[in-house]
Amino acid sequence: MIMHVLSVRMSSAVKGMIRIMKIVVLNGSPKGDSSVTMQYVAFMQKKLPQHDFKIVNIAQRIKKIESDEQIFGEITGEIKSADGIIWAFPLYVFLVHSGYKRFIELITERAAGDIFQGKHAAILTTSIHFYDHTAHNYMHGICDDLNMKFYASYSAGMHDLFKEKERAKLLDFSQGFFESITRDAPAIKVYPALINQSQEYVPGTDLVPVKTHGRKVVVLTDSKEDNINLNRLIGRFGDLLSGQVEVYNLHSLDIKGSCLGCIRCGYDNTCVYSGKDEFIDFYNSKLKSADILVFAGTIHDRYLSSLWKTFFDRGFFNTHTPSFSGLQIAFLISGPLGQLPNLRQIMEAYTEWQQANLVGIVTDEHPNSAEIDGMLQELAQRSIDYSNLRYVKPATFLGVGGTKVFRDDIWGPLRFPFRADHRFYKSNGIYDFPQKDYSSRMQNYFLGLLVKIPFIRKEIYGKLMITKMVEPFKKLVAKI
Ligand SMILES: Cc1cc2nc3c(=O)[nH]c(=O)nc-3n(C[C@H](O)[C@H](O)[C@H](O)COP(=O)(O)O)c2cc1C
Repeated sequence: MIMHVLSVRMSSAVKGMIRIMKIVVLNGSPKGDSSVTMQYVAFMQKKLPQHDFKIVNIAQRIKKIESDEQIFGEITGEIKSADGIIWAFPLYVFLVHSGYKRFIELITERAAGDIFQGKHAAILTTSIHFYDHTAHNYMHGICDDLNMKFYASYSAGMHDLFKEKERAKLLDFSQGFFESITRDAPAIKVYPALINQSQEYVPGTDLVPVKTHGRKVVVLTDSKEDNINLNRLIGRFGDLLSGQVEVYNLHSLDIKGSCLGCIRCGYDNTCVYSGKDEFIDFYNSKLKSADILVFAGTIHDRYLSSLWKTFFDRGFFNTHTPSFSGLQIAFLISGPLGQLPNLRQIMEAYTEWQQANLVGIVTDEHPNSAEIDGMLQELAQRSIDYSNLRYVKPATFLGVGGTKVFRDDIWGPLRFPFRADHRFYKSNGIYDFPQKDYSSRMQNYFLGLLVKIPFIRKEIYGKLMITKMVEPFKKLVAKI
């Protein structure tokens, strides 16, 4: 009895010593409180009730945050008084949602970076693990740029919360974050600050015109008048193709808003904005019908602009179905892409996943304008040549791996609500699981039985493996 009273008193005393921490959760879901990601935060809150969690809906309220400086000020006020910040967001098309991206831009535009400096930070995402790493790399880079004391990132599969083992893991992560705040742990920095090495690009007067052979070339950009280098890259590329290039600017397009994450598109790719703005008609009529598609943009922080991100997010009305299959895609970029391998990977992966062909990426980073002219010349030539050949190079891990992630999820947990994807995957052979590969199954069965016999096993794994493996290739080459 005495022991029990003592232990109750001791635990109350220990509780009294625990520092109550204020954690500001910056919610990157356009669905606000009805977000899956926020249920992971709610779980953390429930398990760590001694701490004060303040959730701020960012992506959902971005228009208000952008237009009303007072709201922006209230958010930075919360951040100022916080012991730690959790960047909690769903994956959106290789990155964060465009609204979250805009908030990150506002931090710089409104000179609010100092508020984040020295704050302890962690990243929590939910996703289906399709390019979750590129989103994490991006956000980690932003934390390093803001001189935050970055602890770690946590990538939860969107259904992980239903698994006890995963919940325990998330709790370990959460406790680790709180402990890092208690000991005021420094960040283990990963991303060096970007160095602005930009120089004026001055195109030369000589060029060798490239015949378009009737190919439809479309350049899509978010360029403004003062993006001098980007405008010159686009101009030069157009000149190389004798001006037979359609140029569209995202600023001139009527885009009513960002993706809402509502999945209205899941059934038959009808978007909630259908008929309400120009985006879908433009995408279907101007972009899908192109032979060569050139995306031209300027780097903002560690990605392109949030307007470009809006484009990619709104493109999700095609859900998990490639919409630029067989097209040639090129990028014209103004800014330090050479220092951003993560962004380059996003561009490569986007193209491969689209089953398109990445012709190349030309940037204005090179100090010698004549060199840039040469690269543009080559880009124009290859765009037409590849298009004439309908050449699409084989996908690497970026495209192969990504397609398999979607294949498995659309076959399984996401078949509902993504009915349109399921129909497409079924009729286009994307469900290429080995279950229908009868010759492999027979071979596995019989050889599996044979290698149970020691002397045959010795023969196969000894002498025969290399020669037998190459034999069918040799026969094929001889026959061709
Ligand atoms: C428009 C859109 C884009 C998405 N992009 C990705 C993606 O690139 N990678 C991924 O793994 N999951 C992606 N997802 C899945 C979401 O990240 C996932 O469902 C998440 O749990 C949603 O969280 P929320 O409810 O907090 O918004 C996307 C979902 C939508 C609606």
